[in-house]
Amino acid sequence: MEFDFGKFNPKDRYKLLSSTVIPRPIALISTVDTNGVVNAAPFSFFNVFAEDPATCVVGLARHEDGHKRDTARNIEETGEFVINMVDRNLVEAMNVCAVDFEPEVDEFELAGLTPVESRFVVPPRIAESPVSFECKRTVTLQLSVGRDLVVGEILTMHARDGLIDPEKLYLDQEQYDIVGRLYADKYAPLRDIFSLKRWQPNEWFAAHCGKKQDESEQGGE
Ligand SMILES: Cc1cc2nc3c(=O)[nH]c(=O)nc-3n(C[C@H](O)[C@H](O)[C@H](O)COP(=O)(O)O)c2cc1C
Repeated sequence: MEFDFGKFNPKDRYKLLSSTVIPRPIALISTVDTNGVVNAAPFSFFNVFAEDPATCVVGLARHEDGHKRDTARNIEETGEFVINMVDRNLVEAMNVCAVDFEPEVDEFELAGLTPVESRFVVPPRIAESPVSFECKRTVTLQLSVGRDLVVGEILTMHARDGLIDPEKLYLDQEQYDIVGRLYADKYAPLRDIFSLKRWQPNEWFAAHCGKKQDESEQGGE
């Protein structure tokens, strides 16, 4: 069955996309407005897309009348934001931050979040988050009257003590109780983790065809 996106309205396209591209990581984004009011809101149209430079992208919807929501406006005005990853302990507070409060409302206070001063940017990170990324906006792409895509450079990363081995940079998976967004009000933890070997071309040919790639290409033994 085909779902031709040209024949669907945005609401239905959202249903199709958000229920199939799952699970999506949740960025609880902290920003500060020009009056110093702190804001936090969750975004699951989010991921990282490069490491050189370290780059993240967030998709932000505007209000129905086309004016930007607080996070998008603050990023536009200040160029700075912090992405805080959401784990099981943080989901209730994250959900409070998703409420469409007036701009002057400090979501940190309402959700019981603890702000921690950032090193390179003005918005604070969230102490309760296991991993936070301090970011500067690289560019904002306006996709339509109601949708913006913010591309940002990650300047530094904070991880809860003990979560990442500082020598090997390995993450302790057991301690990382991260939550993904599914669709509507559904969420999922990470579970049933398995490994999948990354093959070198020669190894793959040897394992699957009984000979190495260069041998088979050369017609060797
Ligand atoms: C788990 C979750 C994920 C969300 N993801 C997005 C998203 O990717 N893009 C978006 O525009 N809104 C998203 N929202 C809705 C915003 O969080 C919501 O509109 C919020 O009020 C925006 O806050 P702000 O005005 O402080 O920016 C999401 C909400 C939840 C609960």
